[in-house]
Amino acid sequence: MQIFLDTADIGEIRERAAAGLVDGVTTNPSLIAKAGAGIFERIAEICEAVEGPISAEVVATDAEGMIAEGRRLRDIAANVVVKLPLTADGLIACRALSQDGIPTNVTLCFSLNQALLAAKAGASFISPFVGRIEDMGGDGIGLLAAIRDVYDRYGYDTSVLAASLRSPAHVEAAALAGCDAATLPPKIFDQMVRHPLTDSGLEAFLADWRKTGRTGLDG
Ligand code: G3P
Repeated sequence: MQIFLDTADIGEIRERAAAGLVDGVTTNPSLIAKAGAGIFERIAEICEAVEGPISAEVVATDAEGMIAEGRRLRDIAANVVVKLPLTADGLIACRALSQDGIPTNVTLCFSLNQALLAAKAGASFISPFVGRIEDMGGDGIGLLAAIRDVYDRYGYDTSVLAASLRSPAHVEAAALAGCDAATLPPKIFDQMVRHPLTDSGLEAFLADWRKTGRTGLDG
């Protein structure tokens, strides 16, 4: 499963990209606004920092406007993926951009029907919002599994990108549901590596080593 960072904070992205474990980045208007950056400059910086797909979202709400903005965003760099909202206009724009060979990420997906339509419109990625579904008492992970099942059953090659993930457990559940990718805030990315038994186990190994009087491997 590919791991994307869900942030527009370039410092946070660069810090984590250095380890080579970040496969892409997703942004949205809220994240760009929070970063206090211009969208064109910030997306260009992110595209330089990470080689994989970088989602940049349109803000127009009509299909024509979305298509025009999508083309401008795509002109920033070859790894830009145009992010479009799951509305009727968003699907028209998705179809038009996809037919032009421009990769798309259809976002704000909350139902299987929406995911089905996005796939039919040629979306490269579908972004179901797990956390926000759970906020409403729904089954976000169940939706991921249902989309995976339907896409496989009907041969759609749209990638399932689990979004709005709020915990490391969500990441594991997305992987078990067969998602192609998951996007997560830097904090959750950092939490993925940690386990208290790893820390205590390492401490015990090193304490035993120190008791021998050696500091490094050689002495
Ligand atoms: O990837 C979508 C994400 O940015 C939304 O997350 O936590 O605001 O629901 P959240």
